[in-house]
Amino acid sequence: MTLSINDLIVTAPGDTCDAELAKQPWEFDRFPGYGPGASETDVIPAPVTRPGQLPAAYQRMPEAELHARIRAAKQTLGDRLVILGHFYQRDEVVQYADFVGDSFQLANAALTRPDAEAIVFCGVHFMAETADILARPEQRVILPNLAAGCSMADMADEESVEAAWEALTEFYGDDETVPVTYMNSSAALKAFCGRHGGIVCTSSNASTVLEWAFEQGRRVLFFPDQHLGRNTGKAMGVPLEQMPMINPRRPGLGVDEDVLRDARVLLWPGFCSVHKRFTVAQIEQARAQHPGVRVIVHPESPMTVVDAADAAGSTDAIRKFVAAAPSGSVIAIGTEINLVNRLAAEHPDKTVFCLDPVVCPCSTMYRIHPGYLAWVLDGLVEGEVRNEIVVTDEVAVHAKVALERMLAALPKAD
Ligand code: 13P
Ligand code: SF4
Repeated sequence: MTLSINDLIVTAPGDTCDAELAKQPWEFDRFPGYGPGASETDVIPAPVTRPGQLPAAYQRMPEAELHARIRAAKQTLGDRLVILGHFYQRDEVVQYADFVGDSFQLANAALTRPDAEAIVFCGVHFMAETADILARPEQRVILPNLAAGCSMADMADEESVEAAWEALTEFYGDDETVPVTYMNSSAALKAFCGRHGGIVCTSSNASTVLEWAFEQGRRVLFFPDQHLGRNTGKAMGVPLEQMPMINPRRPGLGVDEDVLRDARVLLWPGFCSVHKRFTVAQIEQARAQHPGVRVIVHPESPMTVVDAADAAGSTDAIRKFVAAAPSGSVIAIGTEINLVNRLAAEHPDKTVFCLDPVVCPCSTMYRIHPGYLAWVLDGLVEGEVRNEIVVTDEVAVHAKVALERMLAALPKAD
């Protein structure tokens, strides 16, 4: 019998990248309020929708009953409900999604069902915020577990970005800097980009977005993911010395004035804790053990890893890469383990495995457990909206400008 990721994490936490994964997700959501990755200015609707810990009855409920409840609620709600699921969600959750995709596709999917009263987002906080900004005002967006944030999104806050922006404006004395935020950021930072002639990108359209940004100005301030910014800039031919990483806490942003003067892409020091684990040594080992192996990694991986791989792309690009490979192919993947294992299961004629030998799911995506999905869907059936995500109009109006520019910047064909 093969163990699921969930079984592995609970039975052998020592074999995972984080012993905390063995805890049940409700051990992280006992504080009222939004979890990590939230926009600081988001409003928590009160009083009925006040978030909190998953009720004890749902924590104790047998898996079979949770699944029966989810199925029954979906049936009752019909077209009034749409469930969106990111590729990194666990299989027990993703099976209920009406749309499964990468973050660009899911932002678009939120627009395809204007008739649905509720959008339940099985993903992380910044994705649900994006859906709320793009959805019709009457639509309610729900994140089943409000503690499902993104550690990378937390690495850039509005105050630090404003301070860095001020320092850059003072240094350059022109208006030729274009802010680009990765989708993995709070709504407040998307609004910042909207207010300053900037744009949002995802991993699938980052090069289209950078081209757009260079048509608008001389240089780009890219946050929060240094790796996506560097990998995309490099692929476009921007020399590494023109892509300095700033330190928002240091005077002069910690960059030599001569370097700053010539900079084309100013990188923020953010990263993804899952993707920074991939190494060139892992790729070398995969090549030594499996001659002919094809290696594809997500562009949140470090530049040396992207350079050593055969290809890099968004979660959907990775999915397409595996699907297009001939039968019998051996493919090593550098991305989150739930997606890798699903692709391995979907392609039994190919050998598909994760570059990282240690089980390391995205610990915040993992917080969407079927218990939360059952609880929020039961709420909708009873007429109660639980764990709603509400972005204030003041933030949403500017964030929408940057997001609409993003939606117009189509990913290039894989
Ligand atoms: P994608 O846009 O490729 O789905 O990536 C989202 C993400 O958070 C990767 O860590
Ligand atoms: Fe954030 Fe990394 Fe998880 Fe993606 S995989 S949601 S970047 S922590």
